[in-house]
Amino acid sequence: MNVLVVGGGGREHAITATIAQSRKDPVIFAVMAKKNPGISRLCQDFLLEKETDVKKIVAYAAAKNIDLAFIGPEAPLAAGLADALEDIGVGVVGPRKAVSKIEFDKAWARSFMRKHGIGGCPVFEIFTEQGPMFDFIAKLGDVAIKPSGLTGGKGVKVMGDQLPSVKDAQQYAAQILGSGSVVVEEKLVGEEFTLQAFVDGEHLAFSPSVQDHKRAFENDLGPNTGGMGSYTDAGELLPFLRAEDVQQAKDIMQHTVTGLYMETGVKYKGVLYGQFMVTRNGLRVIEFNARFGDPEAMNVLPLLETDIVDVMSAVVGGTLDRLTVKFSKKATVCKYAVPAGYPDNPSKDKEVSVGDVGDALVFYASVYEENGRIYTTGSRAIAVVGIDVSIPKAEKKAQDALDNIIGDLHSRRDIGTMSLVQKRIDHMNEIRG
Ligand code: AMP
Ligand code: GLY
Repeated sequence: MNVLVVGGGGREHAITATIAQSRKDPVIFAVMAKKNPGISRLCQDFLLEKETDVKKIVAYAAAKNIDLAFIGPEAPLAAGLADALEDIGVGVVGPRKAVSKIEFDKAWARSFMRKHGIGGCPVFEIFTEQGPMFDFIAKLGDVAIKPSGLTGGKGVKVMGDQLPSVKDAQQYAAQILGSGSVVVEEKLVGEEFTLQAFVDGEHLAFSPSVQDHKRAFENDLGPNTGGMGSYTDAGELLPFLRAEDVQQAKDIMQHTVTGLYMETGVKYKGVLYGQFMVTRNGLRVIEFNARFGDPEAMNVLPLLETDIVDVMSAVVGGTLDRLTVKFSKKATVCKYAVPAGYPDNPSKDKEVSVGDVGDALVFYASVYEENGRIYTTGSRAIAVVGIDVSIPKAEKKAQDALDNIIGDLHSRRDIGTMSLVQKRIDHMNEIRG
C-alpha cells in the first residue's frame, strides 16, 4: 500500500507519524514545499514542490503508484488537487474543490448555511459595495469582519482590541473589499472549541473536542495567529463544555455534510473541522475548515487507536459506519515554539535544536533541514505535545519539552495551565448565567 501525504507542516508531520504507525506497513511518500525533517525521515521518498502544483503532484502520484493520499492543508484543496488525484484513481482523504469551498469561500459558506437551515449561523450579510456595507456595520454596531478568501487564519478582525470602533471596522472592511467580497457578521461572545471528524461522504467519525489559542501572546493578547497551542481533556468534552454542546455541534456537522451533497452533488470525503462558540444564545458556528486544524490535529491524531489506514480506506470507500473509530481517553496539551516576533515581524533562517523532550511528542512545522541542521522560516516552527491522564500532567510534559527547544523562539507558557483553563470555565459560567 503506497500512501502519499501532501503538506509539510506540523499537522502533516502528525498525519505522517500516525500513518507510519499503521499495522498495514504502508510505504509513505510526501510532497512538501520545504524539507520537513520530521516528515522526510518517515518517507521512502518525497518531492519538494509547491503544494498547489496540481500537475506535478499528480504526475508524482502516478509515478509512485499511490493508492491513498491524505491532503493536509487547505491551499491544495482549493487548487483542486483532490479532484485531480481522484480522477487518476487515487483514493483521497481531502474533499473535492466543489465542497472544500466551505472553507476557502467564507461568503459561500455562510450563504450555504442560511439556504440549508444549518444550525448555529450568526446574523451576517455579504458585501461587494462599500455604501451598504458601512450601513450594515453601523446597524449591527458590534461586528466581525471577514475577507471571503483564504488568509491563513489572519484575515478576520473582530471589534474590541483589534477594531476599537465602528469607524475602524468600516475602514478595515473597506481595505479588504479590494480583494473580494466581505462577510460582516455579528460579534459573538463566548468560549470556542473545535470539533473534527473523518467524513466518508455521508457518515462522520468524530475526534475529541479541542480548544485552540489564536492570539500570539499570553492571556489572549496580541494579533491572531494560525494557533499557538491547544488542549484536549481525557474524553470527548472540554472542562467548560456540556455533553449537549458537543452533541449539537455533531448534529450541525452531520447536517452540513448532507447539505453539501444536496447543494453540489459531490460527496464530502476527508476531514471536516467545525469551529464553534458557546454563547449566551446557544451554539454558533465560527467557521468550517475542510481539513484537520493545525495545531488541533496534533492533539487528536496521537490518540487515534483505530488503524489510520483503515480509517482512510473507509473514508474513500464510504464505509465509515462499519468501522469503530476510537480515540484513547487521555488529555493532551500542544504548544508551539514560534519565531521571535511572530506573526508580525518574525525572525527567519535561525537555527533551532531539540533537546531532551522526555516522552512528549515533537512535530516539526515551518522549519527546513539543510546539511543536517534545522532552521526556522518565519512561521510556527516546532510543536510539542504532552499526553497524560489529566490536563495538568499533560501540560507539564509539554512545557518541560518546550523548555528544551532552543532557538530564537517564543511560546505561550499559559496554554493548558489550570489557571487559564479555570478562566475558561469561569467565563463560560458567566456566559451561561
Ligand atoms: P477564523 O479565521 O474564522 O477562524 O477567525 C479567527 C478568530 O476570529 C476566531 O477564532 C474567533 O475568535 C474570531 N471570530 C471569528 N468570527 C467571529 C464572530 N462572528 N464573533 C466573534 N469572534 C469571531
Ligand atoms: N488552528 C486553526 C486552524 O487550523 O484553522
